[in-house]
Amino acid sequence: MVTGSGAMLVATGTQIAQCPLRVLLVGEKEEDFFLIREILERNRGMLPAELEHARSLDEAHCMLEQKPYDLILFEHETGNAEAVQLLTEFHHAGRSVPFLLLTENADEKTVAELIHSGSWNCVSRSQLDGATLVRSIRGTLALDSMQKEQRSAEESLRKLSSAVEQSPDTVVITDRQGAIEYVNPAFEALTGYKSDEVRGRTPRILKSGEQGPEIYEDMWKTILSGNVFRGILVNRKKNGELYYVEESICPVRDSQGQITHFIANGRDLTERLRLEAQLLQAQKMDAVGRLAGGVAHDFNNLLTIITSYSELALDDVREDSPVATKIQEVLLAAKRAAELTRQLLAFSRKQPQALRVVDLNPVVAAIAKTLPRLIGEDIAFSFIPGQGLGPVRVDPVQMEQVLMNLAANARDAMPQGGHLGIETSQVHLDQDYIQQKPAAIPVGDYAVITVSDDGAGIPREHIAHVFEPFYTTKPAGKGTGLGLATVYGIVKQNKGYIWVYSEQGSGTVFKIYLPCAVKGRPAQLANSRPEAVAAGTETLLLVEDEPAVRRASAEFLRMQGYKILEANDGLDALSVAKQHPAAIDLLVTDVVMPNMSGGELAKELARRIPKMKFLFVSGYAGKTVMDHHVLDLDTNFLQKPYSLKQLGAKIRTALDIKKGMAAGHSGRVARS
Ligand SMILES: Nc1ncnc2c1ncn2[C@@H]1O[C@H](COP(=O)(O)OP(=O)(O)OP(=O)(O)O)[C@@H](O)[C@H]1O
Ligand SMILES: [Mg+2]
Repeated sequence: MVTGSGAMLVATGTQIAQCPLRVLLVGEKEEDFFLIREILERNRGMLPAELEHARSLDEAHCMLEQKPYDLILFEHETGNAEAVQLLTEFHHAGRSVPFLLLTENADEKTVAELIHSGSWNCVSRSQLDGATLVRSIRGTLALDSMQKEQRSAEESLRKLSSAVEQSPDTVVITDRQGAIEYVNPAFEALTGYKSDEVRGRTPRILKSGEQGPEIYEDMWKTILSGNVFRGILVNRKKNGELYYVEESICPVRDSQGQITHFIANGRDLTERLRLEAQLLQAQKMDAVGRLAGGVAHDFNNLLTIITSYSELALDDVREDSPVATKIQEVLLAAKRAAELTRQLLAFSRKQPQALRVVDLNPVVAAIAKTLPRLIGEDIAFSFIPGQGLGPVRVDPVQMEQVLMNLAANARDAMPQGGHLGIETSQVHLDQDYIQQKPAAIPVGDYAVITVSDDGAGIPREHIAHVFEPFYTTKPAGKGTGLGLATVYGIVKQNKGYIWVYSEQGSGTVFKIYLPCAVKGRPAQLANSRPEAVAAGTETLLLVEDEPAVRRASAEFLRMQGYKILEANDGLDALSVAKQHPAAIDLLVTDVVMPNMSGGELAKELARRIPKMKFLFVSGYAGKTVMDHHVLDLDTNFLQKPYSLKQLGAKIRTALDIKKGMAAGHSGRVARS
């Protein structure tokens, strides 16, 4: 790089004239200034220059501060330390103006010392004729220019090398045969190989065997023909782990155009691919969930009809008749089908929830008591409750479903016996932890349930599928593949996260993270309420758009002594109610109906008949039900498919709610 005008003069030789060289003479002697100025004047054609004079070191400093000079001529007396001092200061200040000494009788030792300190050249004052001075100045400027170029080249090299050293991408430089000459720290960090270990070897040490030979053949063909190879390679780290890398390899040529080296640049894709796979998996689960939820909804109506009519038919036949046994079989099958749809609903997160803020330990402890019966005697069981657990907002009944399913799986994985452990603990997930976790889990406090077994474990390639509905490795008739799908759906519905860790042969661990509730006090678990008496004489308005369901329910309820008014939708119900305003004690309505939802109907009727009570029925407790927060799932909600006995019991419970509470309910309905 050429900088000063003097340097340009020297570098180009003939292009003089434009910009005279700025020279500063530092020395006491006035006559030397005149002499040198005259010499320079005489040689102006060869070397245009302007000379200025500083009579002392201080003056030199001032002048140098004010403007730049291309050259300093320094008069040096032997034994005078000023020149060395000025040079040293110059160096410290990071300036590099070429520096030429004028000396008289200087001994070689002094000259050497000055040159060592940074002077460029030394001219004897007695030889100060035009040719000597001009030659010395030219030589000095040439040297200066060369040094500047070298410094700048070194600077670029330093930047380049630190860019490569600090790059988050891996950089590997090989010779033409592929022998590694250089790897950067990112390569060492990713692969686990140290630079010394790989130098001289070829990148074949990273080959995983997961890709066919074609990709490597293509790579060599591309780069040997002088082109850039781009591709995704599946490599293996020193510790055996696989990683995915987006690699680009380009050839490096010498001045003759011959390929001498290759530079490979790699970006680790492992994390990105894993996140993409997770997202894909989550989307797949969502889609399957929606499908399952839709199917379950329609099934529930059909099952309600089957169950109801079977129950009614059973009442018409003698208990010991062969028909009764057949109807019992139908009921049993319907019950099993209802259980399946219940699981599908759980997976699709459409299961009605009775959320409460609870302490997790008593909830888990109550469930844990029932588990030994489920897992059998050959499996040892332990429950270790953690300390300091924050309250969580969950449905305890759903938690039971979760733990039962996990325990049943653990049991099946340990046919020869083993150990099933359940633990609870409290964790705070901070930013650092979450960055390591490839999932979108928010920072915060979580109560964690860990369920572990030392059974058969899950093969690596199966893990991605275990939460899918109908995925099972169990023989036909043994497993439906809905257990973990249910668990997954429930955990999601409770705003939690679930992870599975498993090693084939050494067991499986499921971890469920439930976010701690911020507000509210833990509720005491309600004792299961006694069966309500189903019969009664009150008047009920039954609203149901599925005629078969309505007819069966009405028939049964009439048999129980109730007076039943029927309506097939909301509008119909309003007109029926108009004719019997005083007589209606309870509205039993489906939630999701055409024209007018159950919520809207209840709101309208609550205005007209303040004393009326409500029972909502739905096979599909989707957004419509959940978001209104109008329901006490214990008392005024019944999920389809239901048996007529369950309907009778629920109706009795709803009718028997104290008046004050009923008013409260209608108030809440009014807001929906
Ligand atoms: N603790 C475990 N140890 C080993 N494998 C397990 C474990 N839990 C689940 N699996 C595997 O995951 C599969 C899916 O489990 P999931 O509970 O969803 O269905 P299932 O147990 O096969 O059937 P279902 O629970 O509906 O009766 C199982 O078939 C099994 O291969
Ligand atoms: Mg299971």
